[in-house]
Amino acid sequence: MKPVKVGLLGLGTVGGGTVNVLQRNAEEIARRAGRGIIISHAAARDINKPRICRTDGIELTENPNGVVTDPDVSIVVELIGGDTLARELVLKAIANGKHVVTANKALIAKHGNEIFSAAQKKGVMVAFEAAVAGGIPIIKAIREGLAGNKIEWLAGIINGTGNFILTEMRDKQRDFDSVLSEAQRLGYAEADPTFDVEGIDAAHKLTILASIAFGIPLQFEKAYTEGISKITREDVDYATELGYSIKHLGVTRRTEKGIELRVHPTLIPKRRLIANVDGVMNAVLVKGDAVGSTLYYGAGAGAEATASAVVADIVDVARVLTTDPGNRVPHLAFQPESLSNVPILPIDEIETSYYLRITASDETGVLANITSILADNDISIDSMLQKEHGKDNTATIIIVTHTTIEKYMNNALEKIHALDVVDGDVVRIRLEHLDAD
Ligand code: HSE
Repeated sequence: MKPVKVGLLGLGTVGGGTVNVLQRNAEEIARRAGRGIIISHAAARDINKPRICRTDGIELTENPNGVVTDPDVSIVVELIGGDTLARELVLKAIANGKHVVTANKALIAKHGNEIFSAAQKKGVMVAFEAAVAGGIPIIKAIREGLAGNKIEWLAGIINGTGNFILTEMRDKQRDFDSVLSEAQRLGYAEADPTFDVEGIDAAHKLTILASIAFGIPLQFEKAYTEGISKITREDVDYATELGYSIKHLGVTRRTEKGIELRVHPTLIPKRRLIANVDGVMNAVLVKGDAVGSTLYYGAGAGAEATASAVVADIVDVARVLTTDPGNRVPHLAFQPESLSNVPILPIDEIETSYYLRITASDETGVLANITSILADNDISIDSMLQKEHGKDNTATIIIVTHTTIEKYMNNALEKIHALDVVDGDVVRIRLEHLDAD
């Protein structure tokens, strides 16, 4: 069989890694795909820039439109990032009958509904394994491996840069900015690193995971997003003392009222495997009704880890190029006409536990006041810790609550803030037990 010709858009970190993996493992990959896979064309902004890969034998161009319309190219691999030019090129590739592989989570989270509908009409595939959790085959696992389950919830550390920063700050007392610079040098961070530290990148990925887990359209605009930039050493240390790790987590859960879709720093009991996922590693914990809890772990960013997922998608597409489109795995795991319109819940309606850090005067009745406000709002306390400040007659009170609804907690926090004896803002970090039942 003739080799499949691939046109690459982007020759940066992931593009270069993809060329290297495809060249190095060409023989092994051909044995799997049943035919050779060659990169025949590649577009880059500056074709004379030094690369991490060899480009001999590849027709290089600075015009990506030429690649997506070239009659020789069967699969277009989009690795340029962003969601404006990438969207245009992907739609053009589809209109020209090309199959598409992309690592672009922003593109899929924001424009996936439009892109999949165009692909469906044209009978081509759009594969996006590398868009979520780098090298971990989490899309395949949920979409195919767990197809017999009703997924109840999933929770993941799905931004490598953020996890790398939190780990280095905790273990080596390094400051935020220097770890972020290192993540950029290692090719982990987004072009705009606020996407990593403010949770936008994780929200893109969680949006995709929720859609394939629950069979709902992509709804990035409804995801609640909070980053790691306000996490302090003090809270990391108190969390450790109480037996928790603070991780930046994406959580999506099916409830009777709707679907929770939220990204925020989260305390997780240290005994959970996922609480011990450090550095650039990602992990996704998926709870299915039949299988129970399953955990997927691996490198969440980096040239070859991400290329591993890109190449797997190319192989998948190469294998099914000639099959009837109706028999392929649907883009969002469920048949397009069977997607559900169950609502995404506003953050006020989600259910979780909380870690609170309150600075207050160390005097009679303060603790009683705070705990009665919590009780009035139906919030039950799980554990508590009080630390004397010593010099200014204030104390730090740490409270861990049982599960409650976020709006009850907002109400309680408003009243606690209003107490004269409370000094400054109350720190509130959500807490998830992530138990199997
Ligand atoms: N910036 C992303 C991360 C790259 O750090 O996880 C992989 O999507």
